[in-house]
Amino acid sequence: MSLDDFARHPLLFGPSPVHPLDRLSDHLGGARIWAKREDCNSGLAFGGNKTRKLEYLVPEALRQGADTLVTIGGVQSNHTRQVAAVAARLGMRAVLVQESWVDWPDPVNDRVGNILLSRMMGADVRLVDAGFGIGFKESWERALEDVRAAGGTPYAIPAGASDHPLGGLGFANWAAEVARQERELGVFFDTIVVCSVTGSTHAGMIAGFAGQDRPRRVIGIDASAKLDETRAQVERIARDTADRIGVGRQLRDEEITVLPGWAGDRYGVPVQSTLDAIRLSGSLEGMIIDPVYEGKSMAGLVDLVRTGEIPRDSTVLYAHLGGQPAINAYSGVLG
Ligand SMILES: Cc1ncc(COP(=O)(O)O)c(C=O)c1O
Repeated sequence: MSLDDFARHPLLFGPSPVHPLDRLSDHLGGARIWAKREDCNSGLAFGGNKTRKLEYLVPEALRQGADTLVTIGGVQSNHTRQVAAVAARLGMRAVLVQESWVDWPDPVNDRVGNILLSRMMGADVRLVDAGFGIGFKESWERALEDVRAAGGTPYAIPAGASDHPLGGLGFANWAAEVARQERELGVFFDTIVVCSVTGSTHAGMIAGFAGQDRPRRVIGIDASAKLDETRAQVERIARDTADRIGVGRQLRDEEITVLPGWAGDRYGVPVQSTLDAIRLSGSLEGMIIDPVYEGKSMAGLVDLVRTGEIPRDSTVLYAHLGGQPAINAYSGVLG
């Protein structure tokens, strides 16, 4: 089997844009940094990394005759918003279980940003009082049962579309897309920096790049503040995806790197380095990043370049995975 043997339902505009971040690179005085922009990859409700993953889950949902996509996330989940948009595009319903993953005091947290967009797209949004966790949940099982009891056919999508047999394929395809763009641009990205939480974005990249000829570093930056869980999930999905797409060898341990240091103590709560990275990216590049995910991975990139952990002669690709709608719930720290 190779990646091309899996059905893909196109949801993106095409390849996501790749461009240099020259002012940021000059400011840091080290490696040359570029970005690949999943935040503008699709016309479906601002897109993002989940839209790319869902390209490989949708054919299965259609094959099964599903009429309702059921998924789970936090109140400001980007993932559930993208599932709502995909359901709308397909003429399906969406049931979104939104748990209290983040203890965040903003008074409009459950009314603006992602959750507002999901409601605007007609999703059945269910607020549930349960804490952060990337595993399978009882509330989610209940939502699936409700759909069946009402005579519907649900298709279950786990948190972040990660813990799913097809969850890693979208970003294995991203790796192939990067290689094509490198040939067009005449550049080689020796280092990729990516935010990691539910794991299949990073894992898919690892598997995809593992099947290519030229080795490179794929550095995951943990934003879950539960490093062991995220690392275990990345490793499992990377190995499984590599098998599925016929990489033909075992992944080496050093190919799986998830770094702690920028998540702070809690998922969803920015720390000083997050806020500094958001301002840096905004003021130097006009590139907007969010306080839950990309602000943390950018903080990691900044430090890794400044300390020389990413060497001066490196060419780095920063994976911008989307997530900007959540900023609306963070005006108290960003304004
Ligand atoms: C904007 C953004 N960045 C990064 C991530 C992390 O991706 P993953 O959950 O696949 O590790 C997510 C989702 O969790 C996200 O919405």
